[in-house]
Amino acid sequence: MSTLQASTTTTALPPPPSVYTLPRTQQLEALYTIIRDKDTPRGDFIFYSDRIIRLLVEEGLNHLPVVPKSVQTPTGVTYAGVGFEGKICGVSILRAGEAMEQGLREVCRSVRIGKILIQRDEETTQPKLFYAKLPQDIANRYVLLLDPMLATGGSAMKAVEVIMEHGVPEDRIIFINLISSPEGLQTFYKRYPKLRVITGWIDDGLNDKAYIVPGLGDFGERR
Ligand code: URA
Repeated sequence: MSTLQASTTTTALPPPPSVYTLPRTQQLEALYTIIRDKDTPRGDFIFYSDRIIRLLVEEGLNHLPVVPKSVQTPTGVTYAGVGFEGKICGVSILRAGEAMEQGLREVCRSVRIGKILIQRDEETTQPKLFYAKLPQDIANRYVLLLDPMLATGGSAMKAVEVIMEHGVPEDRIIFINLISSPEGLQTFYKRYPKLRVITGWIDDGLNDKAYIVPGLGDFGERR
């Protein structure tokens, strides 16, 4: 199947202002080429997608506020630097989002990570909450929401709804994903314009099965 046939919906709209992408370096493109390749073995898929996840988490942390902080260096000089202002936590959308937890732990030692399970309600066809276990003080934290693929945005928007019901304001949630669709980003922005989305790559669109194209297939199945 040609790329053109696979992509049923594309949009020429620029990404919404709440969306931040990683710099498109050759290095990053090489990482994405490996994980998109259908013949990449599982071990390599895990290794290279973990590298991207780490970059994404670091970029997500760049969006957290800092406060002035001075320290004494071993040379006896005062260094006027900055320190992190607020507390953070992660929330992964099960099951694929769990694959991003380790990347967050590697960067933020002993970070608390909640979990949300959302599935399609067969009666209403709408995303439905099946399970949520969130840090009890989540309302006082910045939340890094983890889900590798932003396709239609249905599950992620439901997850945001649940997190906000627990007292977290929209502008304290940062949604991190590896690949997003333009239509998913637009839908998300219309509903949550103050929520920042950090994405590694914006793809062409969705196919008739709501898979991102060119995409990488089913992320959960490949890990
Ligand atoms: N979830 C995936 O794993 N892949 C897609 O392309 C879309 C959603």
